[in-house]
Amino acid sequence: MKYTTLVNKDNKFKENFLNKIELIETKNINNNPLQLEKETYENYIKLKKFLKENNIEVGLTGAYRSIEYQTKVYEKSVEENGIEYTKLHVAEPYYSEHHTGLCLDLGVINNGICNKKDLTKIEEEQFNFIHKNIHKFGFILRYPKEKESITNYSYEPWHIRYVGVVTATIIYNNNLTLEEYLKDFSGVLYINKPIGITSFDVVNEISHLFGIKKVGHTGTLDPLAEGVMLVAIGKATKIVELLTAKDKEYIAGVKLGIKTDTYDITGNVLDTKEIPNNINLEEALNSFKKTYLQEVTIYSAVKVNGKKLYDYARNNIKVELPKKEVTIKEIELLNEKDNEFTFKTLVTKGCYIRSLTVDIAESINTYATMTSLKRTKQGIVSIEDTYTIEDIRNNNYKIHKIEEVLEYPIIELNDDLYLKVSNGVKIPNNYNITDKVIFTYKNKLLGIYIKDNNYLKTWKNFN
Ligand code: DAL
Ligand code: ZN
Repeated sequence: MKYTTLVNKDNKFKENFLNKIELIETKNINNNPLQLEKETYENYIKLKKFLKENNIEVGLTGAYRSIEYQTKVYEKSVEENGIEYTKLHVAEPYYSEHHTGLCLDLGVINNGICNKKDLTKIEEEQFNFIHKNIHKFGFILRYPKEKESITNYSYEPWHIRYVGVVTATIIYNNNLTLEEYLKDFSGVLYINKPIGITSFDVVNEISHLFGIKKVGHTGTLDPLAEGVMLVAIGKATKIVELLTAKDKEYIAGVKLGIKTDTYDITGNVLDTKEIPNNINLEEALNSFKKTYLQEVTIYSAVKVNGKKLYDYARNNIKVELPKKEVTIKEIELLNEKDNEFTFKTLVTKGCYIRSLTVDIAESINTYATMTSLKRTKQGIVSIEDTYTIEDIRNNNYKIHKIEEVLEYPIIELNDDLYLKVSNGVKIPNNYNITDKVIFTYKNKLLGIYIKDNNYLKTWKNFN
């Protein structure tokens, strides 16, 4: 279930949504029963307490509504206020987000009275205070003033919607509606992946926190590995391949003398071998500062004849392992003790550090398995620039714009070129572009163009 599920005039409510949530019983301001989705309810209670501490008493005037209930509300409004008014104030059955249990109508209570129509100056001020603070509890003002043309509803100061703290804060800080957020929000996160979870787990968690389906990571880190992982959200997923292609720096731990099937310590031990006396690790490492053909491990997702290598391994099928050219740009021994050592290395795209450790061991006539792996750099991003998932959950993070994370020149277009580029038309390379260029218009990313002889042509369009 997504807390950003969109229900509006163009997006009909799907009733199976109710199978994915838990509704909690509560009471409205008149003590009549009412229901809210569990997390929405819990955060409403926190918000109510916070407002009370700030001398504002609130209660519920609306919450979850069944299709039948919304039908009654709608028909009553048509009868009392006419169709034109109703269209702007009440959703038709199946098109109200009240069906989700994720939104609620707040009433402010003064001297025991809750007044919904024609707010007094004091009530207006109370609502203004509420609107400035609800994002801290994961709520957004769903139908704000001056956004009527996007939401297609009149301003409703009382109607707030739970979307989670991360999303609510972005929507509040950027003065967006849920519609605008879901359509346009994008960027790249610099994540510090912890040990014990997969890259896929990171992507799922980010997708959940931001309420956005389109999320992609760049450069897989296995559960054993930690460190820098760039995660792209929304339109930024279009540049995943560029970010994955960057050089990467790692610190790896190695144990000599044993061979495991996965090349790391989590695998099954296949064999052991004595470690020769007087090996010179520094020399061995230095001899790998080169470009060489590295055999791809069978535990990788690289495809051979349309099938992933790890599927061959799983089914015990013999396969000739492909080799890939990799360059070890830098390599340095950090420390060694008994039969273990750690090293730091800077490598090109596609280099498997576990394979490198096995290759190094082979060059000194023994076996090795990788005991730890930390990615400390990917392109221009260092581990110091990253945030943990917990940081993000606590709203303590930075999100980077697509144009910020790429190292291409950025050119702001004039009206004439804007039209051409928006239509994907080739333009002369008057800028001495040697590879790619980022075009913006009114400071908004328009597209990435690539050199094509004396011209520039579309590589990715963000319009
Ligand atoms: N008042 C809002 C638009 C609804 O009926 O869902
Ligand atoms: Zn409402």
